[in-house]
Formats: sequence, C-alpha cells, structure tokens
Amino acid sequence: MRIEQSSVWILIVSLLCILSWLPLFNAQPRGISARSLDALLQDYAFRAFAEHPRTGIPYDARIPSNLSGVEGAAMRLRSGSLRNRGVKRYKEFQIPPGVAVQPYVERLGLVYHNLGNWSSILYPLPGFTYLAPVLGLLAYDASDLSASSLPELYIRASLKPILIKFPNLTSAPPADGLSPKCVHFDLQGSVQFDNVVSGNACSATQQGHFSIAVESTAPSPAPNTAAVLPPNAGGRGGKGNYSKVWTVVGSLVGVFALLGLLVVLLIRCKDGKKVQQMEWAVDGGETLQRTSVGNTKAPLAMGTRTRPVLETEYVP
Ligand SMILES: *[C@@H]1O[C@H](CO)[C@@H](O)[C@H](O)[C@H]1NC(C)=O
Ligand SMILES: *[C@@H]1O[C@H](CO)[C@@H](O)[C@H](O)[C@H]1NC(C)=O
Ligand SMILES: *[C@@H]1O[C@H](CO)[C@@H](O)[C@H](O)[C@H]1NC(C)=O
Repeated sequence: MRIEQSSVWILIVSLLCILSWLPLFNAQPRGISARSLDALLQDYAFRAFAEHPRTGIPYDARIPSNLSGVEGAAMRLRSGSLRNRGVKRYKEFQIPPGVAVQPYVERLGLVYHNLGNWSSILYPLPGFTYLAPVLGLLAYDASDLSASSLPELYIRASLKPILIKFPNLTSAPPADGLSPKCVHFDLQGSVQFDNVVSGNACSATQQGHFSIAVESTAPSPAPNTAAVLPPNAGGRGGKGNYSKVWTVVGSLVGVFALLGLLVVLLIRCKDGKKVQQMEWAVDGGETLQRTSVGNTKAPLAMGTRTRPVLETEYVP
C-alpha cells in the first residue's frame, strides 16, 4: 500500500516536471530566426557581387519576396584598406580608420542589413518601441564569393567608433523624461543600451545589429506577459538565447518549488496518519492523555503500551 502511494507521487512529480519544461518548446521562434536570416542575407548579398566586384562599392542584394521589407547589401574590401582608410559611407554606417578584423583575412565582405518592418519580429524588445529599423553590419571572409554558411568575422574599432546615422527616426511619442536609446544586439543575442549621439546616431565598436528605441510608457492596450519582463529578458523568437535561459531558469525554480511543496505535503500526510491511528485507538475505548511533542499536541498512551513516537525529523 505504501509502495503504491509513493509511485503515485513519483508519477505526479514527473508529470509536473514534464509540464513545466513545455514552455521551452513553445518558445521556439515561429518562422525565421535572426541568426538564420543573418546566414540568408550573407548568401543573397554575396550573390549580388558582380563577377569581379570593385572594392569599396556597395552592391544591393536581391531579396526574395517572402522577405519583402528586408534590404541587404555587400561591400568587398581589403582588410588593410579597412584598417587604414575605413569606409566614409556605407548606407547608414560611417566606418573610421582603425577597424581591425579577426581572424585575419585578406579580403572581407561587409554585409549590410536593413530589417525594415521585420525589425520587431526578429529582434523583439519588450517594453520598447523602435523609432528606426534594425540595421546590421556583419563581416565575412570574401575570398570565395560563392560560399554560404560562412562564419562571421570579428571586427573591432580601436581608434574611433563606427557611427550609424538613422536618417528617418519615427518621432518619439511625447514621453515624460524618457529619451530614446541606442540598442545594440551582438551575435550572441545580448542587448546593450547606449545614449543617442547628436540626435539620430549611434556609435559602435563592433559588428552586430543596431537601432534606436524608446521605452513605451503606457501599458499596451493588449498587454501580453512579455511586456512586463525586463528588456534583457528577450522575447519570443529572434535571438533565442535570452528567452531560453529565462525559460530554463523559470522552469527549474518551478520544479524545485513543486518538489519542496510535495515533500512537505508527504511528511504532513504521513504524520497525520499516525495521529489518526492513535485517535482511532481513543475511539476504541482506551483513554489517551494528550501531551506535547515539539509544538504539536499528540495523544499519548499511558501504562504498558508502547509510546507513540512522532518522526523526530519533523519540524512543523
Ligand atoms: C523564401 O523562399 C525561398 C525560396 O524562394 C526559400 O528558400 C526560403 O527558405 C524562404 N524563406 C522564408 C523565410 O520563408
Ligand atoms: C513588410 O512590408 C511589406 C510591404 O512593404 C509586406 O509585403 C510584408 O509582408 C511586410 N512584412 C512584415 C513581416 O510585416
Ligand atoms: C524617410 O521617410 C520618408 C517618408 O516616410 C521616405 O519617403 C524616405 O524614403 C525615407 N528615407 C529613408 C532614407 O529611409
């Protein structure tokens, strides 16, 4: 009988564990993820290079219609030229001299992204409203222009920062004291906030995705739970790392809380049973005197009967 009971508990606990892990699977981004779009845009942008691409000239990518709203481009450069001269203007980006590439390649392809109306889908930022599209600048080895699934190179501005000028900021809603912030997503999915420079620009020292956003003051008319989370909690889809970490942490906390609760319940249950058995003995005609064990009153049999002993570990 006792064995049956404990197996029921084990079943319940396992079910609860499984249930609490389910959000992890629900959190999968629907459709395309930010990282898979990075790979697609590298492919589309490199295809835009002519047979013998001129260096330092941006080539616009042809984007398939199922991604309409997204723009991409590619520019081929010698890494020595990037380091010594920079790129005066590449779409919204101004790249000063002193930008180094790691690991070293002789020629690199700088791929530009403008995510347009896909910005908040691929880079959800709960509690914030984008005032500009998310723009990206990623570097790849350009020795083989037909290559796809290339790993990104690491670029770093050491003298002056790279400047990103957003020409067309959506006018910020009249918010009391909330100023727009530069947002930077690195390739690992973490978010950093920084001050806006000269009204509509952001500075950067490395590759990634950039935009300008302002905290949304009023709770949205159709609030969802994500809006309550802090900005670095991420959200559904996009850079999945954050939301995944939070889901895992949340699930673990949930599982441990439930386990703790179950252990307490189990002890209570066992204990209650003992007391009950002794009370049945009272009903059976024996007079039991009540005595204190710990903080609880428990019936105590007098005379020759064996004394009931409550579990010594139990502290209510
Ligand atoms: C868009 O269509 C292309 C084929 O034209 C397909 O390879 C790609 O996976 C599609 N992308 C999305 C995001 O649906
Ligand atoms: C973005 O806008 C284009 C039209 O400019 C539309 O075709 C596309 O469906 C939109 N995409 C999203 C994700 O809203
Ligand atoms: C700025 O916005 C205007 C109107 O919304 C549009 O016509 C123009 O193309 C935009 N310019 C850029 C650089 O996005």
